Amino acid sequence: MRIRAREITFAVDFGPAFLKIEAMADAIRIRDLRKDFRLGFVPRTHKILKGITFSVREGEIFGYLGPNGAGKTTTIKCLLDLIRPDAGTIEIFGLSHFAPRSREPLGFLPENPYFYDYLTAREFLAFTADLFGLGRTERDGRIARLLALVGLERAADLPLRKYSRGMLQRAGLAQSLVNDPKLVILDEPLGGLDPLGRKEIRDIIVRFKEEGRTVFFTSHILQDIEMICDRVAIIVGGRIVKEGALRDLVSERVLFTEAVVAGLPPEAFAGIGESVSAQGDRVLIRILDEAKVDEALDLVLRRRGRLLSLSPRTETLEDIFVETVTRT
Ligand SMILES: Nc1ncnc2c1ncn2[C@@H]1O[C@H](COP(=O)(O)OP(=O)(O)O)[C@@H](O)[C@H]1O
Ligand SMILES: [Mg+2]
Repeated sequence: MRIRAREITFAVDFGPAFLKIEAMADAIRIRDLRKDFRLGFVPRTHKILKGITFSVREGEIFGYLGPNGAGKTTTIKCLLDLIRPDAGTIEIFGLSHFAPRSREPLGFLPENPYFYDYLTAREFLAFTADLFGLGRTERDGRIARLLALVGLERAADLPLRKYSRGMLQRAGLAQSLVNDPKLVILDEPLGGLDPLGRKEIRDIIVRFKEEGRTVFFTSHILQDIEMICDRVAIIVGGRIVKEGALRDLVSERVLFTEAVVAGLPPEAFAGIGESVSAQGDRVLIRILDEAKVDEALDLVLRRRGRLLSLSPRTETLEDIFVETVTRT
């Protein structure tokens, strides 16, 4: 009896501590991941991932950015144990990714997913739920909630072949949540969508986070990421060239100021603007040095020109991306 009591105390004491350790683990921890492919008639080794290291913290939206062919999908394939890395380690919530249990808290939406055209969204989700072995009541309740989450309630009973690309993508996002995952992995979820479609998907990704899920998604579209990501990693040619919080990567530093002036000739701004160009009766002046902005304004006032606009351009993620991609 005494031993049993001690066992119980043990379980009670260690339970929360164990949970705490789990809560503190990164959602994804990738260390020095390497992957080569052998290609060609006379096979040659191509290094695709050249030692990738980054971490995704629990509860954040993490953007994995990079141009086409950089290695984003290959990283995801390694993470899901669809292909074997040549070196390095991957942990999912503290478990090695080789352990099948490490994939239990995962939801996944592949790049360009294929759907059975003749199923309705509701049937498609039911099919997925059955694969996860959900009971009927739980299944139907969850599907109704997911359809609402992605805004497909009204189209739920239409066959998927009648869906637009954006709607299909939303059905795919609902599918990625069927098993109630803690971590959702989305490969190019914004690909091939118009600006409105992209906004809808962004809003859904933010809802995933509000539900307490961690979201890891890839993209080569920058503007979208800037709006919703807590942190990003930029991969170029199989290497991580930047990783961090957006506010640390993107400074508030003014890169240049652009002034549009009417009523004065371009020559008036020689020596002030880094570049001066005339468009009809307007002059566009790009000024690098902040002190020269005042000089330009003085000149406009003195010579009675008209200032149509004055806009400082701060650094954006796009600038960093272009800078790193062109430098590598
Ligand atoms: N199974 C494969 N066999 C050979 N090369 C591959 C394979 N999968 C991807 N690659 C190559 O690896 C590089 C990275 O591909 P990928 O990870 O799909 O890039 P991304 O998702 O960033 O666009 C590309 O050059 C691609 O051609
Ligand atoms: Mg890809």
